[in-house]
Amino acid sequence: MIPDTFIQDLKSSCDIENIVSSYVKLTRKGKNLVGLCPFHSEKTGSFFIYPQTQSFYCFGCGAGGDVITFLKRIENLEYIEAVKLLAQKSGVPIPEDTMDDKTVRQKARTLEINRETARFYHRCLISEQGKAAYQYFINRGRTPKIIRHFGLGYAPDDWNSLRDHLKSKGFKEEDIENSGICVRSKKGGLYDRFRGRVIFPIIDLRGNVVGFGGRSLGDREPKYLNSSDTPVFKKSKNLFALNFAKSSKAKSLILAEGYMDVIAIHQAGFDNAVATLGTSLTEEQARLIAQYTDTVIIAYDSDGAGQTATKRAINIFSEVGVKVNILSIPGAKDPDEFLQKYGPQRFELLLEGCTNALEFEISKIRKKYDVETPDGKVGFLKEFSRLMAGIRNPLEREVYLTQMANELGIAPAAITAQVENIQKSQKKAQARKEKNDTSIYIGDLAAGRGDMQRKRNLRIAIAEERIIGILMKNPDYLSYLVTKIEPQQFVTDVNRELITTISQHIQSNRSIEPMALSGELSEEAMKRLSGILASEESQRAQRNELDDYIQVVRDGISAKSQEDITKMDDQELKGYFDSLAVRKK
Ligand code: GTP
Ligand code: MN
Repeated sequence: MIPDTFIQDLKSSCDIENIVSSYVKLTRKGKNLVGLCPFHSEKTGSFFIYPQTQSFYCFGCGAGGDVITFLKRIENLEYIEAVKLLAQKSGVPIPEDTMDDKTVRQKARTLEINRETARFYHRCLISEQGKAAYQYFINRGRTPKIIRHFGLGYAPDDWNSLRDHLKSKGFKEEDIENSGICVRSKKGGLYDRFRGRVIFPIIDLRGNVVGFGGRSLGDREPKYLNSSDTPVFKKSKNLFALNFAKSSKAKSLILAEGYMDVIAIHQAGFDNAVATLGTSLTEEQARLIAQYTDTVIIAYDSDGAGQTATKRAINIFSEVGVKVNILSIPGAKDPDEFLQKYGPQRFELLLEGCTNALEFEISKIRKKYDVETPDGKVGFLKEFSRLMAGIRNPLEREVYLTQMANELGIAPAAITAQVENIQKSQKKAQARKEKNDTSIYIGDLAAGRGDMQRKRNLRIAIAEERIIGILMKNPDYLSYLVTKIEPQQFVTDVNRELITTISQHIQSNRSIEPMALSGELSEEAMKRLSGILASEESQRAQRNELDDYIQVVRDGISAKSQEDITKMDDQELKGYFDSLAVRKK
């Protein structure tokens, strides 16, 4: 358990605005702040920070909670880990006995096992048994220095050497299995996942070894093998070498396809290269990249697959607002081979001269039309203006626009007028969409979107949420409320969880700020609470409305009892019986 006093300390010394702003660019909007939601893709901000309640809420996707919920989600942490991270960030000392959560202990053990595994593999590589593997790297042009820098390794070609080593270090079989580094066979034995492969440790932003990639030395299939996903490792969320690239002084990040490419690029002196882990780029990875840079240079293989992947990546990056430059690699199949053949200087020239995504697009539509004919010119200008309308930076737009006007011999003003027209109609469409998205009517709470039970009992659920909203602003109404309705009688599960916890806090004189509640509430409940706090109705919640809402919920309870109970699913049935039991009391 985390002592209450510690949470209090933490609360008074951290500020959600400060913490979130290191991940999301926020702008002030009245009392609150708004930015682009880091949990889903959007072009206009619907992600709000409420300093007054120290909570956040996204009207687009329904993500919400307090600063701890935020850290949990953005850093992929357990509750206690998030508390610790927050304490670290705010300079509050952590009491010793907070490490008793089971999953946290398990994660910590997995990380220990991973670290020991990385050490073991690296030692194998530089020892006698790793001779051939070491030579493999050397033959491929890697230096001893870069081998050390990346902590590269070798998994011996037998079934148990890692398992036996870990056991000799005192790790239990169960923990070794949980770490995913060994696999349980059908017969029940535990054997090594990686055998006879060179090993690439994958290290997260905090310096933890979270997983491994392994390449076979010869033609053995599969060529590459990656760790399976574990509680500390999600392939779709990590990037190889981001632990190095995050502190690069370069203005952009280079995104390559493979481990060997990234290592070759770093070895050549460019410390800003990363790669996805044997999968195509995900939105989560793009958002991760967006936290570190606003420009990415895509350096995928020059084959067809690489080009298709490039197009896909351009789209994903444009969704998250990262500018894209494309590196074409002439005379080689990938950056690794290019560097081998032509060296770092020529690679640098490539980097400097790489076309940006916009030029790539312009040249594409340019090829589509014959601008010597009037029809062709009109067609081209239409598409070109649409492209220009999408550029957010006016200066950048101006540059391309003027250049093109000169090239075609037209007045720039003519194109500008076109572009402005398109932008106006886009803005209107956007405003319409936003109005729909963020109609801050609690009935449309994004947080409750996927909740079928809430949908089926919408009227009651809304009343429950208003009651919660009123209570959050006026905790002293609780004594009145309980004379009319018991928290356990609330009809919908999430709201019942909320009202129960909140009233327990009020009754025992504990704080009901979101942060004081977050340790005891489920993620769903925390989300709902933030939604309630963010809704306009709750902002102007009135005491005199309370009776009306109570009535709606009470009607709901009795209606339920007359309903055909065969229609209820197990959980509803249980809730129904619970509510009956409470009423009899
Ligand atoms: P080499 O230069 O041949 O060592 O490989 P590379 O790093 O240039 O890789 P390649 O272009 O063949 O593939 C790019 C990336 O895709 C690799 O780094 C791996 O992450 C992944 N990959 C390639 N082959 C496989 C495979 O068989 N299985 C899995 N899971 N991933 C693979
Ligand atoms: Mn390669």
